[in-house]
Amino acid sequence: MASLFEIHSDEVRLLDAGAGAGALSIALIERLCRQPQKPKRIVLTAYEIDVTQIKPLQARLENCRHKCERAGVSFSAKIFNEDFIAAAVSQVRGDLFALNLPCYNAAIINPPYRKIRSDSHTRTLLRSAGIEASNLYAGFVALVTRLLEQDGEMVAITPRSFCNGPYFKAFRKDFLEKMSLRRLHVFESRSAAFRGDEVLQENIIFRAIKGMPAPGQIILSNSSGEPGSAVAERAIDFQEVVSSADADCFIHLPMDHHDHQARHAMGKFSTALAKLGLTVSTGRVVDFRAKEFLREQTGADTVPLIYPCHFNGGFIHWPKEKTRKPNAIVSNEQTKELLVPAGVYVLVKRFTSKEERKRIVACIYDSQQIPAQLVGFENHLNYFHFNGQGLSMALAKGLAAFLNSTVVDVYFRQFNGHTQVNATDLRSLRYPTKAELEKLGQKITDWNLSQAELDTVVTNELF
Ligand SMILES: C[S@@+](CC[C@H](N)C(=O)[O-])C[C@H]1O[C@@H](n2cnc3c(N)ncnc32)[C@H](O)[C@@H]1O
Repeated sequence: MASLFEIHSDEVRLLDAGAGAGALSIALIERLCRQPQKPKRIVLTAYEIDVTQIKPLQARLENCRHKCERAGVSFSAKIFNEDFIAAAVSQVRGDLFALNLPCYNAAIINPPYRKIRSDSHTRTLLRSAGIEASNLYAGFVALVTRLLEQDGEMVAITPRSFCNGPYFKAFRKDFLEKMSLRRLHVFESRSAAFRGDEVLQENIIFRAIKGMPAPGQIILSNSSGEPGSAVAERAIDFQEVVSSADADCFIHLPMDHHDHQARHAMGKFSTALAKLGLTVSTGRVVDFRAKEFLREQTGADTVPLIYPCHFNGGFIHWPKEKTRKPNAIVSNEQTKELLVPAGVYVLVKRFTSKEERKRIVACIYDSQQIPAQLVGFENHLNYFHFNGQGLSMALAKGLAAFLNSTVVDVYFRQFNGHTQVNATDLRSLRYPTKAELEKLGQKITDWNLSQAELDTVVTNELF
């Protein structure tokens, strides 16, 4: 992270928010002291809420000061043992007792990760500074963005979750408006980089500059995250990472030639889901909220309840004999709103395990095979429907085949770094036309196709 900075100022005013024992700042300061063209002066401001970190931080910064002196660089540090969010919000808002708005020209951060509830004090504070963030790390990055001066550089390590999804849309827009992304590094392993902290996310490091236009190209690199692992690096067009045509501002990370090909191939499709007349929704039955209506097996007053465990190849197999999940839900006045009319629906798992080969797993629910007037789709599923009703079988087959293809999966992983498939992510995809999907659907006569066979049919029909 320290090596990514390109700052050449005589005076480096550095911010480290959530400094811990100062590892990141110290790495950068030591690097600056080693380079041939050293700054004259380094002023560090460190925020750390955990009092137990303050003494080690002070001791290490004292050591750092000696190193700077030996290198002929003047060094001073201010340590604030307080909440960075509260302090920075009042600076950004220009509160009476806040310090004058500091102007940093560099920031290095590894912010804390924690969801911020929408009714929490932190969320209210952030909102008062015009920031919408659903996770602490996004709040930190948004505040640091505001505390940087024009051309100021930020290098941060964060989870990759902000790159897509609805919860980070406001954050992404704000960040990309104010900052010019210049460099991205992805840790592929969800477990290696933050093993100690139980962060089950792919993580990224990014470098961004305030107030500069988007670059023509951006450097993207990746490594497993294991110490000493090889780093693969390439330059790609910025448009491939963030498309100016994308209102959701997804950040795509095409890592290799394979990814590039998938992105290129998907660029061929321009049909929005709405144009197909389709909607994708999350299953309405939240099982723990509807406990009293759930039944292990069917009865006179029940209809099928579909969980991911009912996925079996191309079609839903129901009921399932040996399962811990209920197979049925009572159909009555109270559950009416949770149920969907009989028909053909394409279902996609919302969560896939880390071990699963594919992120997008689609399957068809067909009322011809499961006779019932209504059906419940559980909340761990997304379902594609036509105004709340089913689809034609040809369209459903084509859509499921398309979604299950490797090219869609490879493309999808470029903006989705976790194991969750949100309805918004599926909505943001661009699809083949209805006629193309139906034609593809007609070609799928056997659902026992291997992945390679399915890919061949999809490639022959669509590409
Ligand atoms: C992921 S750790 C990073 C520590 C250090 N920068 C590093 O990379 O080793 C995040 C740090 O932020 C601190 N922290 C958490 N919430 C904070 C807050 N609201 N204000 C300031 N520091 C905070 C934690 O105590 C922790 O030391």
